[in-house]
Amino acid sequence: MGSSALLTAVVVGAFLWIAAIHAGTEDDGRLLCTCENEKGTCINATCRGDICFYTWVQGYEEKGCFSADSYREQCLTSFKRFFVHCCRENYCNALTTPPPNINGEPTTTPPEFPRPTLWISLVLLLSIVTASVCGLVLFLRFQRAPCKRRNVEDHDSTKLKVTNGDDPSYGGIFDEFCTSGSGTGLPYLVQRTMARQISLVECVGKGRYGEVWRGTWMGESVAVKIFSSRDEQSWFRETEIYNTVQLRHDNILGFIASDMTSKNSSTQLWLVTHFHELGSLYDFLQYSSLEPESCLRMCLSVVCGLVHLHTEIVSSQEKPAIAHRDLKSRNILVKRNGQCCIADLGLAVIHSQSHDYLDVGNNPRVGTKRYMAPEVLDETICMDVFESYKQTDIWALGLVFWEITRRTIVNGIVEEYRPPFFDLVPSDPSFEEMKKVVCVDQQRPSLHNRLHSHPILSATARIMKECWYQKPQARLTALRVRKTLSKLDHDSDFSIEKLKQDV
Ligand code: ADE
Repeated sequence: MGSSALLTAVVVGAFLWIAAIHAGTEDDGRLLCTCENEKGTCINATCRGDICFYTWVQGYEEKGCFSADSYREQCLTSFKRFFVHCCRENYCNALTTPPPNINGEPTTTPPEFPRPTLWISLVLLLSIVTASVCGLVLFLRFQRAPCKRRNVEDHDSTKLKVTNGDDPSYGGIFDEFCTSGSGTGLPYLVQRTMARQISLVECVGKGRYGEVWRGTWMGESVAVKIFSSRDEQSWFRETEIYNTVQLRHDNILGFIASDMTSKNSSTQLWLVTHFHELGSLYDFLQYSSLEPESCLRMCLSVVCGLVHLHTEIVSSQEKPAIAHRDLKSRNILVKRNGQCCIADLGLAVIHSQSHDYLDVGNNPRVGTKRYMAPEVLDETICMDVFESYKQTDIWALGLVFWEITRRTIVNGIVEEYRPPFFDLVPSDPSFEEMKKVVCVDQQRPSLHNRLHSHPILSATARIMKECWYQKPQARLTALRVRKTLSKLDHDSDFSIEKLKQDV
């Protein structure tokens, strides 16, 4: 009697559910939705689908349509920095905006349903829960006796499966993702789900580190760095930092997800980030020359990223200080707006004065020899002092500025792209070759005369020289470099404004 009533409730509920899905749709059974995205699916800012959606993923908004079978996968997710709103009425996504607490705060806003659907969902849910409880009671009643007889072998194999799936060497790091408050990215399972929905499209970079691919997720380009197995420590470090440190900044490469999979007994390590189609600063400088104002914009953006890394924040949004340790033009990406962002935190060290720790990690990798500071090359660096690492970043920052200024046109003159010390060491220089040039001979990259005839470039040249002092403590800080460049930027804005007024 009870079970037939339950069955009726389930059947009626399912019928009403289907009816509700079709309510409010156009003649062809599909909704009209507001469409604002770059997937190429919008016609006159409209699309047709079974569900209208609005997503806010790390500051990027999109509106469009999903098919009904994407509902579970796409709509039932609302996390920190990831807000999805799905609805089932014509143009119901037109005016949606993220809830006020989305910026860095976890949101609990559930996707909104039209009222009848919500009501039917509740009936269905109640039916399913009741049926499950009944089923469980019956199941336990009949299973209890055989369970008792389960032998030791079975028990052991169950245990074995659990330990295999929960590899001890990874357990610690994943536990850290879940620590409340400090974790900043998506929950680990969501990262994994997202990573597995990515289609790899084209390989855009290859090196000792592994490969970088352009992939797509929900029609959006993402960058997927696939780490070579010998560089797994870099994946661990970068994953750890992105998931535990508040690193959202315009000039730090935006993190999306990290994923580890096993394929044919080998481990694949993925880091999914924002995709920047202009590629690395190194690539960009090969084929582009710059005006002094663009050079300033680029240099300023790099140092803004570095200041954010180097600065410890001691507030509710606290952040330890981070030194990069492998800053170079290949680890900087160029954005469409002419600014840059810093990538590759695989070698970074973390320091907190307020919590009194210095975490240098345990990566056997070292920085790029060409960019190594004198104290790294002659091994006099104080490895237990955090300031030392920041000072090596400043050395490298000066070299990056030098690469950018070479490609800057002044008085119609521009130099070809060359890597730092191109005229003093061979390609892929050895540690000893670099040490001879930088420490013994104390050579520095040469600065072209044309730089002295432009206010932006002469100031940048002065900064470079002060980034290259032999004595690490004498070098500028990132904050000082930012201040000087910001002032130049402000002054050049001012003179452009004045020029406009004069015209
Ligand atoms: N090369 C390395 N990382 C990249 C990224 N995030 N976007 C584009 N090209 C890249």
